[in-house]
Amino acid sequence: MKFLEEIENEIKKAIEEIGATQDVGLVFSDRPEISDFQTNVSFILAKTLKKSPLVIANEICGKIKSHKFNIFAVAPGFINVKLEDAYFSEIFEKMFNDERIGIEKLNPKKIVFDYGGPNVAKPLHVGHLRSAVIGETLKRLSKFMGLDVVSDVHLGDFGLQMGLTIAQIMEEFNCDYYFTGNGEKPIITANDLENLYPKASLRSKTDEQFKKLAQEITVKLQNKQKGYYDIWQEIRRISVEDVKTIYDILNVSFDKWYGESDSEDFIPKVFEILNNKNLIEISDGAEIVNVAKESDTSPMPPVIVKSSAGANLYATTELATIVSRLEEFSPNEIWYLTDNRQSMHFNQIFRVCKLAGLGDDVNFLHIPFGTVNGEDGKPFKTRSGSVMKLIDLIDIIVKACEEKLVESGKVLSQEEIKPLALKIGIAALKFGDLINYPAKDYVFDIPKFCSFEGKTGPYMLYSIVRINSILEKAKGFDAKFVINSKEEKDVIISLLKFVQDVKNATIEHAPNIFVQSAYNLASAFSTLYNSTKILTEEDVIKRNSLLTMIKLVKKALEIFCYLLAIDVPEKM
Ligand code: ARG
Repeated sequence: MKFLEEIENEIKKAIEEIGATQDVGLVFSDRPEISDFQTNVSFILAKTLKKSPLVIANEICGKIKSHKFNIFAVAPGFINVKLEDAYFSEIFEKMFNDERIGIEKLNPKKIVFDYGGPNVAKPLHVGHLRSAVIGETLKRLSKFMGLDVVSDVHLGDFGLQMGLTIAQIMEEFNCDYYFTGNGEKPIITANDLENLYPKASLRSKTDEQFKKLAQEITVKLQNKQKGYYDIWQEIRRISVEDVKTIYDILNVSFDKWYGESDSEDFIPKVFEILNNKNLIEISDGAEIVNVAKESDTSPMPPVIVKSSAGANLYATTELATIVSRLEEFSPNEIWYLTDNRQSMHFNQIFRVCKLAGLGDDVNFLHIPFGTVNGEDGKPFKTRSGSVMKLIDLIDIIVKACEEKLVESGKVLSQEEIKPLALKIGIAALKFGDLINYPAKDYVFDIPKFCSFEGKTGPYMLYSIVRINSILEKAKGFDAKFVINSKEEKDVIISLLKFVQDVKNATIEHAPNIFVQSAYNLASAFSTLYNSTKILTEEDVIKRNSLLTMIKLVKKALEIFCYLLAIDVPEKM
């Protein structure tokens, strides 16, 4: 934040005057009753200046005179800064007049976002939730921070699962249409697909012949052989349509709907690069790349780039996708969002890139996330113990929110209740996810997520709805701000922390940082609201000031909603 930098620079100058040089980092004070910001710079200087931190802190503070803030040393040597109320008001006004509420952009760079990762012919399940939710928010956050982003869903559409599904289809449907052009086109639905793959996958575990057939079909498909390739295109179309409806509900969207298959044309290039660097070895008929290092303390298996049956594997399309992305987008960074079980895969891939000199100046980043668990601490499942489909998970939370609305006795018509429950449910789901550090597992706690009180999505929406209602009732007012109470001061500090944490969350790739700050802001507003009369305040200056303040809170919370891609209802 600009004003903070200005104060830091003044402290830096004072340090130079006492004969040292040192960068100063001011942080929010952990003793808000005495100061707003503090720094431990004198502890760092103690070694070079050979004086006690407290003596140094006093010397530095003695050199600074400002009408904007008070600066003083506190034992054992912290430098504390307390802003004058008038200066706070000045800072506030700048935030208020800026549509970004003072959130500065970062230096531009280009980032490819790889998230979502649905698989063709398999329905989205609970495991796909976090990639979509965290990915969408990190993408929006980066965009908001001025970075140039492009998002790619990276469909899983080219592996053995496709061969398995096609083999099963050819058994259950008459596929002449695809091979000879005779007969009717078989009608395959998204529902059919849901059953076909699990059936085929189960069968391949015991039926060797079927497995072999599926492997052969996979190779034929990868060679774009007629019939197989056409069936595959049809499956892909049905699947994508199905997946898109679910992403729409979650407000998740992608610039590119590329799949593993789109990297096909770049596979020869991958082998050319690997061969040029002599990286390929043959092992049991498969082509592998050794990526282990002497310094490894845990096993690092080789990367298989061609199976003994001649098929290209997950790692092969991964590398080919990197080649294609480098050509198409020239990114500075590529961010991959998958669950932490794929950490080894990405570690291996990034090592291959390094060995092969692929994307030498590109920062490859795997952002792993934990599992969505049930109360038993194991991955969230259906009652019967099978994998929970994502659409069912959404349904559960939306229904729970609907029940809450009915219970609350709010007068809502039948037409109002469904769309409202959907908005609240999606907010509940996303907030419940994003409040956690991505790499951490969390428990999918339905009553907690849907509660209108406490650290929840519905609470956040409710705060905005309440602010909107106050502002509407207030009609017009003069936007002018003066600090009157401790509660107002707390709101401003929370606002400043939010501003800082939007940036921190981007740098740390951790949405939970700004989500927590937004929650703190909403609760600071709530404390202010409960302790202060706003609309009925007779002192016009005070009233205007309070309204100005909550309007700024609204702006901040709207940025929060944009970043989470959640919709604010008109009332709730
Ligand atoms: N389809 C994969 C899966 O379900 C996720 C893809 C993630 N992205 C990637 N570039 N590998 O496991």
